[in-house]
Amino acid sequence: MRADSSDRKVLLKALVIRWTGTLEGRSGLQSEAPPSVGSKAGREAVLALNLETIISFPGGESLQAFALVTVLVEKAAAPGIKALVRGVEAVLQHNQDTLLQALQQLRLSIQDMAKALAQMHDYVDPDIFYTVIRIFLSGWKDNPAMPEGLVYEGVTTEPLRYSGGSAAQSSVLQAFDEFLGIRHCKGSGDFLHRMRDHMPPSHKAFLEDLHLAPSLRDYVLTSGAGCCLMAYNQCVEALAQLRSYHINVVARYIISAASRARSKMLSHPAPHALEDRGTGGTAVLSFLKSVREKTVEAILHPNA
Ligand code: HEM
Repeated sequence: MRADSSDRKVLLKALVIRWTGTLEGRSGLQSEAPPSVGSKAGREAVLALNLETIISFPGGESLQAFALVTVLVEKAAAPGIKALVRGVEAVLQHNQDTLLQALQQLRLSIQDMAKALAQMHDYVDPDIFYTVIRIFLSGWKDNPAMPEGLVYEGVTTEPLRYSGGSAAQSSVLQAFDEFLGIRHCKGSGDFLHRMRDHMPPSHKAFLEDLHLAPSLRDYVLTSGAGCCLMAYNQCVEALAQLRSYHINVVARYIISAASRARSKMLSHPAPHALEDRGTGGTAVLSFLKSVREKTVEAILHPNA
């Protein structure tokens, strides 16, 4: 990166061309990192998780483990995505037995995601995440360190603004939200919708299709199938618990790490400007708590 004659930050042409070439066929000129980026902690993680990354960024072993655990969380979600598809079909066919099985499988999958996420604590050093990995994942949108964005040399003359890499760009939880009928408040919902522009187009289209599918909530409320309603609520509770656990992870890797960095005077200006921001650019805790609250609110109380 360099500054141009107007002191704007410019991404060098050699990088832009490679980058845009890599992203050809995707939905745009986005920045891209997790959900699926990703060395003693990393080496242990490789052995324990039986996975290895093929590229690396600064952050060394913790970065590798961060990427691998993220992949494992997504892997744990795969049976849930399959169950969700069976669940949509079951609602269309009014098949309560299949719907019940699908909801039970979805709950197990969400609980397995939380167990996979817990491995972050075993392998990723919070201070390395906060002072190194997070800086490289950050973008140039909603980023106080780069408010004017970034000129892509050879592609644009005006600066572009793109969000950094964030697991909020994973389609998994958004798919669960769509299926379970969980609606987020405007600010958080707008951010989550914007993150869809960083997903593979087929994932984005899948979420849009789910949104148009017949309402699972209406079905469980009107079909009289009490066991399906209970299984629906268990899915919502498991999702709220996953989101609570994720907030604890964020508290350790961002909030506590920020206060340690401040007390050790480790911050230089850019990380400092980013200290209460996620890599996707959100004001971290208020966003995540609002998303969890709307999840809890989705629990059905048929007799209330
Ligand atoms: C050290 C580990 C992690 C940290 C510090 C972290 C931090 C954050 C932050 C700050 C946000 C707010 C959006 C942003 O500005 O980026 C966020 C959102 C999100 N993260 Fe993470 N994250 C971590 C790991 C993960 C993993 C492994 C997953 C799952 C693959 C995940 C899934 C999500 C999702 C789905 C959201 C959107 C909010 C929601 O739907 O609840 N995160 N994360």
